[in-house]
Amino acid sequence: MANERPRILTGDTPTGSLHLGHWVGSVKRRVQLQDSHDCYFILANMHAFTTRVQQPEGIRRDCIEIVRDYLAMGIDPRKAVIFLQSEVPAIAELCFLFAMLLPFNRVMRNPTLKDEIKIKGLGENYSFGFPLYAVGQTADILAFRPVGVPVGEDQVPHLELTREVARRFNQVFCGVDEHAEDDDHVKLGGVFPVPRAEVGKVGRLMGIDGVNKMSKSLGNAIFIADPAKEVEKKVKKIFTGRQSPTEPGDTSNALFQYVEAFIEDQARVAELKDRYSRGDNLGDGHVKAEVAQELNRLLEPMRQRRAQYEGDDAPILAILKDGCERANALTEQTLAMAKDAAKLITFPRTLRPR
Ligand code: TRP
Repeated sequence: MANERPRILTGDTPTGSLHLGHWVGSVKRRVQLQDSHDCYFILANMHAFTTRVQQPEGIRRDCIEIVRDYLAMGIDPRKAVIFLQSEVPAIAELCFLFAMLLPFNRVMRNPTLKDEIKIKGLGENYSFGFPLYAVGQTADILAFRPVGVPVGEDQVPHLELTREVARRFNQVFCGVDEHAEDDDHVKLGGVFPVPRAEVGKVGRLMGIDGVNKMSKSLGNAIFIADPAKEVEKKVKKIFTGRQSPTEPGDTSNALFQYVEAFIEDQARVAELKDRYSRGDNLGDGHVKAEVAQELNRLLEPMRQRRAQYEGDDAPILAILKDGCERANALTEQTLAMAKDAAKLITFPRTLRPR
């Protein structure tokens, strides 16, 4: 049965429509994993409030649109569970408990937090909830007791914190020896497995500006829902700085990142690279036309799937409701185990959706 497969959890903070960077960096892998693993995908909508407390409507919209993008890209709600962080109370309750296990300074040392403070120019002006989200993310993960968490490189510090919480919880409340191997924690009576970060080989895709990582806020993204003509237009803009088809080209530029990521025929990729680097009369325009064609071949079925879900929010909400029920069924168990271990007095409860 499904629940004998290894369990993984990953997800996204809803910050807008998904683009090719999301596809290459993580969603493509999720689509594969849903056939071999029990997959839980979290929409971290509470996390979105860390920086967008002024835009609750926008966060709500983004949650719904992100599900449309997931479905378009091939995530199948009959196989994988898509759920909202805010509808899984065990996460908030575990966050409170885990916050007690973490030194404040340890949370603030998290390099991903520090980077965000810098990049977003938060200075000293961030909410208490902002660093709390890092503790929250350990709860997002451990509530599901997954063996692995497929993420991008930038999330690794969060995973390190998660692994520390799991170890500490198991040591403090379950009597697991402090020298125990990570993989032995559950066998030795720990509630939480010490989950692995499974970092994808593909880094983040460059944007069409040819300089920065693809990102909605930088205006350099090709979106999953972009029409074919728009994709062609955007691909034409990919900046390389090359002057002529006879100039030896640099195959580590943004354009060739797209060639490698999206042209499936490896012999063709090798040929393009060879001719481009020798300046063998291969213009950027030519390569771009091929890239655009391959992209549209990839995106067309996604557009068609997305079109089926356009307009009416009800089917999307039904998927989320079902996902939240399935997420709660599992995480309520985890929470009960954790509360027992922490010697909290508990009374059985059932979450019943209205
Ligand atoms: N912080 C992640 C991001 O912004 C999203 C996220 C929240 C997440 N909770 C998670 C990812 C748990 C993996 C596991 O991309």
